[in-house]
Order: sequence, then structure tokens, then C-alpha cells
Amino acid sequence: MRSRHFSAMTITLLFIIFTAGPLASTGAKWTYNGPDGEHDWSSNYPFCGGAFQSPIDFQTQLLRYDPNLPPIQVQNYNLSTNEQLTLGNNGHSVQLSLPFHMHISSLPHRYSAAQLHFHWGSSSLLTGSEHTVNGKRFAGEMHVVHFNSDKYPNISMAVDKHDGLAVLGVFIEIGEFNPAFDKFFKYINGIKYRDQKIQVPAFNIRALLPVRLDEYYRYDGSLTTPPCYPSVLWTVFRNPVTISRKQFVALATALYASYAHDSATVPLHGNYRKPQHADNRVILVSFKDGLHGILSAASPFQRKQVIQKLLVGDLADLADEGLYQLLPKLSPQPGVDEKFKKPKKQGQWSQATQKQQWSKNNVQSSSSIGKKIPTPWYMGALETDKGMCFVSLEENVVHQLERYHAKGLMVEALREVIFPELNLRSYLHCRSNLDLQTIRQLIKGRSQDEATELEQSLTKAMLRQMRRQIKQHRKPNMKTTIGHPQATFPKDYNSALTYHSPQRVEWED
Ligand SMILES: *[C@@H]1O[C@H](CO)[C@@H](O)[C@H](O)[C@H]1NC(C)=O
Ligand SMILES: *[C@@H]1O[C@H](CO)[C@@H](O)[C@H](O)[C@H]1NC(C)=O
Ligand SMILES: [Zn+2]
Repeated sequence: MRSRHFSAMTITLLFIIFTAGPLASTGAKWTYNGPDGEHDWSSNYPFCGGAFQSPIDFQTQLLRYDPNLPPIQVQNYNLSTNEQLTLGNNGHSVQLSLPFHMHISSLPHRYSAAQLHFHWGSSSLLTGSEHTVNGKRFAGEMHVVHFNSDKYPNISMAVDKHDGLAVLGVFIEIGEFNPAFDKFFKYINGIKYRDQKIQVPAFNIRALLPVRLDEYYRYDGSLTTPPCYPSVLWTVFRNPVTISRKQFVALATALYASYAHDSATVPLHGNYRKPQHADNRVILVSFKDGLHGILSAASPFQRKQVIQKLLVGDLADLADEGLYQLLPKLSPQPGVDEKFKKPKKQGQWSQATQKQQWSKNNVQSSSSIGKKIPTPWYMGALETDKGMCFVSLEENVVHQLERYHAKGLMVEALREVIFPELNLRSYLHCRSNLDLQTIRQLIKGRSQDEATELEQSLTKAMLRQMRRQIKQHRKPNMKTTIGHPQATFPKDYNSALTYHSPQRVEWED
């Protein structure tokens, strides 16, 4: 946490916020360019500045092969032409509504379809995908948005839950003409302006997806538009689909982000968000051909073991030898790893002593591992909730920060609350690495000495890793080395002060 000093300016701003009241009741304006562009999203939508954001760049070193990822199976995607779908321009994208009976059947829950929409470049810059592969941006990207219909009655209820959404992402490349896309592309002149909608006959939505549904990237992320809730289980297919240049240019030039009655027209293009920090996530991949020397994901058993060790195991063992298991990023290098090992302190760190210590300040039994982790003070009433709901989390944090006269620290506080939670959940499903902050959270109940010992070792190991990287690359990227990227907090906390009370807001994906 950074310091919490507040200027007279801050107090004045706070006063303005409290007296301005219901101003934000319709959801704040946001755009991809200009003063309301993505750099400013987090001032009205704090989650946009928080943890586990999307899109991200699929860098080869972040990929882990997971042989247990099954091919994606979709049901009822071949819609009858008797069905009508709503095609609309919401000022941020072109969106096609989808019926509830369309769903994904190969995920742990049933995820029912809600809508699909696109992100694209412009007629002069043909690149506008959100996810990128080793920095390569595709011409466009389609998102087929689904919600967890096993747990939630509709998408509005699911959108802010940690397991609420599953989105299928499809890269779009310029190439062959795509007849499936023309089934609705041909109507887009009827929705040139913001908030315009028309009904179009349904068609086979499966034909919009790539042929191969077995090759994909998988990670935990967020909506790529405000309010940016980290509620999305992402599946991005490896293989792009193509549309013709003519189709692309039609899409990139037909639409406006402005209303029909606006005097100034604003073209709708370049509607993609920049890649976000990886936040210690790994990206699981269902394929490994073409990826040389790719690491495999650790088994669920190994991951549970690591958590178990953190909660009740020998922390000294972890400090001495288990560092690589804890933070796989610290991959051992010949010769270097030996230096981490210290002579083991006899007695003091024996299993027996440790177990006694543990039962003294026992707060949690090992049987509860993975089900319940210590809840930070911010979360208040949420403690008993099984699902993590981002709207009420936001409300809780706001109230706590108001009490501490620290509302401007909204983004930072949310990050501190959410990151360990999401990181742990994601780690148990191997979509992230454990972060130092998460480890600290887990060892809160342990005796001070042991926890300190472990933390010192971690800090040392990471410093060593940083030094090694500095040697290897003249221009090291410190942020990715340290793991928890503090640097993503807004530089100016006052920018977060214009935040208004949480509410249901318009969102696209
Ligand atoms: C989709 O359904 C239609 C009938 O509504 C059928 O004629 C067509 O062959 C189906 N397409 C596929 C790819 O299954
Ligand atoms: C979603 O479900 C909730 C709870 O059943 C309900 O209150 C709400 O009106 C529904 N929203 C929509 C858009 O259907
Ligand atoms: Zn999207």
C-alpha cells in the first residue's frame, strides 16, 4: 500500500462527490479515444484499474500445456431461420442477441449464450483484435458471451460474479470471403447510429467459429469494457476465421459511435482495449504442437499440496526448497538454485514444533483448504458468501474507504482485496501462479517467525531473479519479474476520486 496522505484538494473533491450524488445513475460515458478513453476508465469503473483484466498478450513464456482441456462443445448453435435475433449498435460495438438455448456444454457449468459482438481496427489500420499472440494483433475479434445459467437466472445477475461469464473469442483475419458473417453483415447499414436496433433472421452461429474447437487459449480474465468485472472464463481459439477485405472495410466504415441526432458524427472503429498486465496468470493451452519446449501445467494434486503446505505444512521447508513450487516463475537455473538452500535450523523448524505452533493459533482446519481463505477486512458481509460478487465488494470497499477518508484509493484497495482471492481460485485451477500477496494471505494464521522466514526467502529469491534478468537483458521488465505489478495503479490517485456509487451499468462483454 502506498501512503495515505491527503491534500486539501482531495478533501474538496470528496466533498464534490458526496454532494454531486445521483449524477452517475445512468452509467458514466466511456470511449476508446479522447478524454474518456481507456486510461480514464478506472476513474468511474474501478475494476478497470484492478486485477485480472483482459485482454492480454498470449506470450509463449506464459503458456502452459494442459492435456486435460477438452475440445469446446457448443449446443443448439445451428439456429432456425424462423428465429429472429436483434442486431444493434450500442455505440461501442455491433452486437447480435443470442437465445438462451444456445450453450457451451464442455465447461464445469452450463454457460448459456447471451450475445456476440466484435472488436475491429479501421479501414486504414487493419488490426483491431483485443487479444494478441506474442504481440501480433489480428484484424478483428469476435466475442460470443455466455453466462453461468446453472447458478444465475440471467446475464445481469451473472456479470459481476467470479464464475459468472464464459466468453469464446475468435480471431478474425483478412482473407477469404466469409458467407456466414454476411448473414448479418448485410444488415449493418440499418444500424448505422448508436442505439439503433433491427431484427434479423437467425442462422447457423457455429459457422462463425473456426473449424477446430479443440485448440484454444484458456485463462481467467475480465470484461474488456467498463465495468471490467474480472468475471470471465476466457477461451480464445487458436485458429482465426477469415473475412474478405471488402467485408472488413464495410464493417470498419459503416457505423457511428454517435447518435443519429448528434450534430457531430463519430465513426465507430478501433474499438479494442490494449493488452493488460498478466498479474501472475498463466495461460493454459489445449495444444502443444508448434510450441517448442512448452511447460506443462502442474497437476491439481500438486497445486493442492502447495496450498496445504502453506496452511499447515513446514514453512521452513518451503523457504528452503519449495520456492520454485510456490512461484514457478523462479525457474531453477543450474548452480543458482543451490545458493538458496540454507542449512536447516535443527529443532526450531522441526515438523513437531511446527505442528504445536499451528494448533496454538489454529484458525483453520486443513479440511477447509480451497473452500475458505481468510477474508480481508474490506469484504465485511461477503465473508459468508460463497460466490464473490463484484458489485457488493465494490460497495463494501467504498464504505470502508469512506470511513478511513481514503476514497481515492478505491482502485488500489480493490486490487488488494481481489487479487489474492482471484489468484488463489485461479491457481487451484492452474490459470495463474501464486503471488506473494496471496502467499501472505495464506500464511496469515501461521506463527510470525515462520512467516517472516518464508517471506525473506521469497524476497531474496526474487531479487536474485531480477538481477539475473538485468544481466540477461539490458532492459529488464521489472514489473513482470516482481509479480505483483504495483506499477499498474493509477499514478494520480485523484483520478480515482470521480468514482461514483456502484450500480448496474451498461456493459458489452
Ligand atoms: C442447420 O439446420 C438446418 C435446418 O434448420 C439444416 O438444413 C442444416 O443442414 C443444418 N446445418 C448444419 C451444419 O448442421
Ligand atoms: C434477472 O434476474 C433477477 C433475479 O431473478 C431479476 O430481478 C431481474 O429483473 C432479471 N433481469 C433481467 C434483465 O431479466
Ligand atoms: Zn468484447
